[in-house]
Amino acid sequence: MRSVGIVGIGSYVPENIVTNKDFEQFLDTNDEWIISRTGIKQRHIAPKDMPVSELCYQAGLKALEDAQIAPEEVDLIIVATITPDYAFPATACLVADRLGARNAAGFDLEAGCSGFIYGVVTGSQFIATGMYKTVLVIGGETLSKVLNWKDRSTCILFGDGAGAAVLQPVKEGFGFLGFELGSDGSGGALLSQPAGGSMYPASLETVEKNLHTLQMEGKEVYKFAVRVMGEVSVKVLKNADLKIEDVDLLIPHQANIRIVDAAVRRLGISPDKVVVNLDKYGNMSAASIPVALDETFKSGRIAEGDIIVMAGFGTGLTWGACVLKWTKVGLEV
Ligand code: ACO
Repeated sequence: MRSVGIVGIGSYVPENIVTNKDFEQFLDTNDEWIISRTGIKQRHIAPKDMPVSELCYQAGLKALEDAQIAPEEVDLIIVATITPDYAFPATACLVADRLGARNAAGFDLEAGCSGFIYGVVTGSQFIATGMYKTVLVIGGETLSKVLNWKDRSTCILFGDGAGAAVLQPVKEGFGFLGFELGSDGSGGALLSQPAGGSMYPASLETVEKNLHTLQMEGKEVYKFAVRVMGEVSVKVLKNADLKIEDVDLLIPHQANIRIVDAAVRRLGISPDKVVVNLDKYGNMSAASIPVALDETFKSGRIAEGDIIVMAGFGTGLTWGACVLKWTKVGLEV
């Protein structure tokens, strides 16, 4: 099996910022409540006419430029999203077309906020086996399009954005060292967009009942997240035969600062090794981890050989983590 790493990264968020104060204008909420319960101060929201494929295209383009790889060289594009442009065709195919990735296969992957982790795990298998050389994995979301803007317990939590990673073979001992993925469908109803699929096809009734918007049992998701974030990080390190002291950087899913803090306590990792940017973006679901990775790299905080753990949880329920030894140097194979 070939070693696989991330040789290019990029991200994109829409310009428009909605602050907690903005919510005070139309919701019974306030800045103090949102910050103390979530840590979120603002989020970026896409304009009405901007679909998720546009965010994914922009992030994908930057990642390819960063890797200095032409779109024609991409063998596969995976878009992790729960807010695709359409039920079908797949957003990955639309993004491939925009990029001019004429030789790429493409499909969407639905694992909620764990989507980027599921995406890099899936994409890297194609490279490890020698089937493909270059895979573009994008986590992109426009959750703003499926929020109930009258529900104060959900609409304040989420933001829009996309992050992308180019995967290629790297030198032995570098790149992904271990993965851990899991799911529990019995918790599916805790976080869902019930209507629009084959269970509740779109009808006047589903629209009237607001069933096309995100529904969440916040407290239950919170308990699940606190438990699973620590567990999955411990397991992924064990799989890679590493200890918590070996970790240089933890990039957790950016849902709620209290969930991140609980995972940090459970792991006993120094907080200065933990990336937090949810104050600026809110929860961008599948985009949270790759946007955080991109920002952290661009800030100069990641060096060759660093051990990085990325861990997430989301609708499904799903969870996932991966550990990698950082290098951005691809191998000519
Ligand atoms: N402003 C003011 N008050 C509010 C707001 C708000 N925005 N939202 C809820 N409240 C009120 C509630 O109505 C409740 O009032 P009551 O006591 O009079 O009934 C009170 O605040 C407390 O509400 P709780 O729900 O108990 O608040 P909690 O501390 O649990 O925080 C939160 C809620 C932030 C949603 C938390 O449960 C959470 O973060 N859950 C996890 C969510 C998450 O991570 N989701 C992402 C999953 S990933 C994916 O795949 C998309």
